[in-house]
Amino acid sequence: MLIVHTIAALRAALPVPGTCAFVPTMGNLHDGHLALVRQAAGHGLPVVVSIFVNRLQFAPHEDFERYPRTLERDCELLQLAGCNIVFAPDEHELYPEPQTFKVLPDPALADILEGRFRPGFFTGVSTVVMKLFNAVQPRIALFGKKDYQQLLVIRRMTQQFALPIVIEAAETSRADDGLALSSRNGYLSAAERARAIELSWALRTLAGRFGDGVAPLELLEAQALEALAAQGWQPDYLTVRRQDDLSSPSDDDEREGSWVVLGAARLGATRLIDNIEFKA
Ligand code: PAF
Repeated sequence: MLIVHTIAALRAALPVPGTCAFVPTMGNLHDGHLALVRQAAGHGLPVVVSIFVNRLQFAPHEDFERYPRTLERDCELLQLAGCNIVFAPDEHELYPEPQTFKVLPDPALADILEGRFRPGFFTGVSTVVMKLFNAVQPRIALFGKKDYQQLLVIRRMTQQFALPIVIEAAETSRADDGLALSSRNGYLSAAERARAIELSWALRTLAGRFGDGVAPLELLEAQALEALAAQGWQPDYLTVRRQDDLSSPSDDDEREGSWVVLGAARLGATRLIDNIEFKA
């Protein structure tokens, strides 16, 4: 496995565009990332994994400085998972000057849910992913459904800019108790970790009650927020949306269909997100 730190070295290793499968990450890898790498390897193309903690997608009060940087261990894990090239640029390589040109995603998709609570987040993500796509020039890029809204934003960006890249989704990897794997789970204390699954349970309950079709969605969402808050969480949102564009169903809409229930909530100092696709 080759480890490169510059775009020039990456291009030298992969001179023909459109010949690799790509998994972008911010490092501190867990089994969810490694499942993405294994899925990428299934395409029979060289697999490139980027490791870059992208300052642009963190607000000033967020965890950019303390985000764990574990390059050596990440590379050991990637080698075992079948990665061929690790692209680990430093900040100067990716942002040699302040990044004043940015990719502004459609507010209808990017200013809701995560974007409402993390303003500018998807501009930061879209900008770095566009830059990584230009550096890596992959044929396929893989994104986990754990970051459902991110997957949709990147898919739409790729379509609208006519990028010659297939965006492939990967199912969310979960721990034995069902908790969605996330680098931020490492911030949880043992007591918090034992309770972290409550967010998924709240989402399942909301999905089930939505499917019952008895009460208005707005009421169900308010009740879900209240119930999670009563358990000591600080929820940002718990909501049911359409899978293809994250729009809200109106009360008159037919509930039969393909939905996703999404949530974000803080347990102590740690903000967790999760989502579950379902059919009603
Ligand atoms: O999902 C992530 O880890 C990041 O948002 C990504 C896609 C690597 C961009 O920094």
